Order: sequence, then structure tokens, then C-alpha cells
Amino acid sequence: MASAGQPLGMSPVEVAAAIRRTRLAGPTETATILIADPHEINRRILRGILRSEPYRVLEATHHEDALRLLNQEKIDLIVLDLMLPEIGAPEFCRRVKLQRHTRLVPLLVITSVQGVENEIAGLESGADEFLTKPLHPAVVRTRIAAMLRQKAAIDSLEEAEGILFALAQAIEQRDTCTGLHCERLALISVTIGQCLGLEQPQLVALYRGGFLHDIGKVSVPDAILRKPGPLTEEEWRIMRAHTVHGEAICRPLKTLAPVLPIVRHHHERWDGSGYPDGLRGEQIPLLARILQIADIFDALTSERPYKPALSWQEAVAILEEETRRGWRDPHLVAVFRAICEGKTQLPRGQCLNLEPDAVRASLENMRVALLQ
Ligand SMILES: [Fe+2]
Repeated sequence: MASAGQPLGMSPVEVAAAIRRTRLAGPTETATILIADPHEINRRILRGILRSEPYRVLEATHHEDALRLLNQEKIDLIVLDLMLPEIGAPEFCRRVKLQRHTRLVPLLVITSVQGVENEIAGLESGADEFLTKPLHPAVVRTRIAAMLRQKAAIDSLEEAEGILFALAQAIEQRDTCTGLHCERLALISVTIGQCLGLEQPQLVALYRGGFLHDIGKVSVPDAILRKPGPLTEEEWRIMRAHTVHGEAICRPLKTLAPVLPIVRHHHERWDGSGYPDGLRGEQIPLLARILQIADIFDALTSERPYKPALSWQEAVAILEEETRRGWRDPHLVAVFRAICEGKTQLPRGQCLNLEPDAVRASLENMRVALLQ
């Protein structure tokens, strides 16, 4: 990652192309397959079928051993029998899908009983694919290869998302020199969203928007981003473009589609005097209006080289003054004041304490609740 003071030197087109390259990259390491079956004969047959393939094959005879291996190893595919003893395939699949680090591992369920009902039971178990015995070696190999290709594509996508988040945090460091800005934005935005009763997908978008909203600043040179004096009109034009550049960077990742309105519209104003599109009132996406309040509040209450940190009371007073000027959503600002004053019931175990340790702890709880 670039250090503060160094221009990142990447245009949005270059960043988007790098993300696309990551997505298209194929598997670079040997795939690991876990066979979960108590019967030696079944495991031997599968081992034989896969012998000619370039896979690492692990075996478990009991569901507890299988779950332990899943926590210890990077497993790319699980093959299991529908009649897995004690807990059965449906419960096993449910446990795998519940854990964040294993929820995307594909499951291939095998059964010895033919019939539509049996097939339905297999698919309802949360399995991704289903095969009936007797196993045809070529069919098994083809099915497993297809599932592993899909898993590799998902891994690349997750990797690309990880790169974007790391890049976004590097940009925030370069811009504001304040630690945990993204984290506080995610925490404040999701808290407002929860108080408004928003659904889980919208809360997840707010969480991600906290990190990604300013990713378009990758294209703004340091000379502008860190300029101590006022910007020229041309410099403002470049600065304002971070919204549309950010949207272009995130667009290749379909999972980030709900975040795009936040990235593009977080500098619009209620009266239409903002940018990039001059949207007004409820034309401005709600999530962008929420993130904007969090962004302004955090900027006001953070210490910068050129200004001290304001108290939350002073920051909310400024938000209210900006509302009177017509810039902010009056309802959201009122909701936010109520949160700051402790007049709104927050979800259990959550608080708006913005001390670094409290932010880290609250955000971790939020991440587990939202993203698992
Ligand atoms: Fe911004």
C-alpha cells in the first residue's frame, strides 16, 4: 500500500481493470477436498475416482472430525453422505453455512437411495449439488471440477473485495491522517440505519459504504488532497470527481451494487446544491444521506492538523445549522441528535462510544451480526 504523502498513481480505470484481473484469475493452488463419510468402502471408492486428479484429499469419519478439519484447513469442497451418522447431512450443511469462514465452501451430497424425494431432501439440506449411487467416475470428476471452478471464482471475488477495502483504508490514511475514520463511519451509519429499522442488506451496504465511500480519491493527487490552502476551481473539479470515480471502481463487483449509491451520492445536498448530480430531497438515496451525516459528524469531532476536535454537541449543532441552510435531511439530523443524547434505544450490546477500543469492539460485533 502507498504510504501517506505518496500519490497512489492509479486511475479509476486502472483500479477497475486490476479488480477484473483478480476476478478472472483461476485457482493458483491445489484444491483440497474433504470426504466426510463413516464407511471406509465409500471413502475408498471416492479416493479411487479422484486419484487421477490434482487434488489434496482429506478424510473424516465423523462429523466432529470434519468440522474440526474445516476450522484447521482451507477446504475447497466437501463430499458427504446424506445419511451422515448422528446429525445427518442437513444439520451438517447448516453448520457449515452458518460459519463465516466456511459458508462459501460447496457441499456435494451423495445418497444411495434413488428418487425425487431423496433428491429434494439432499438439496434442502443446504447442499450445492447432489449425486445418486452408483457413482459414475466421469460424472463425479466432472461435477467436482465444475464446483471447484465456481469456488475459485468466488475466492477471487472475495479477494478483490478485500483489496478494495484495504485500498480504501490506505486512502483514508492518506487523506485525513486520522485512524479508524472508516470504522467510525461504518459504526455510526449502521447505528442510524438500525434506529430507522432498515433491513439487513441495507445495513450491510452502510457498513461497507463506511469503508468504500471515498475510494475514488485514489485518483486525486496528493497536491490537491493535502493542499493546506483553498483549492482552485480546477482542483475542486478533480476533487468532486472522486464520487463518480469511486462508483466506477466498485461497479465491477456485483456484490457491491447496493453500495454504489452511497459512493456516488454522499456529497449531494438536500436543497440540490451538492454534487455530482445535484439531486434534492428524497431523490438522494437514503443510505447516502445517512452516510453523509456520519461523515460530517466524524470530520467535526476528529482532530486535524488545522483544527481541534469539536464536542458531539457542537458537531450536532453545526449539522442542525446546515439543515436550516437547506443542506441536510431534517428528519435524519433529528434522529441522529436523539441517538447522541441517548434517547434512542440501540440494539442490545451496542453503543455509540467512539473511543478507539470501543469502536473496534462494537464494529467486530456488528461485522459478525451483519456479515455472517
Ligand atoms: Fe467523499
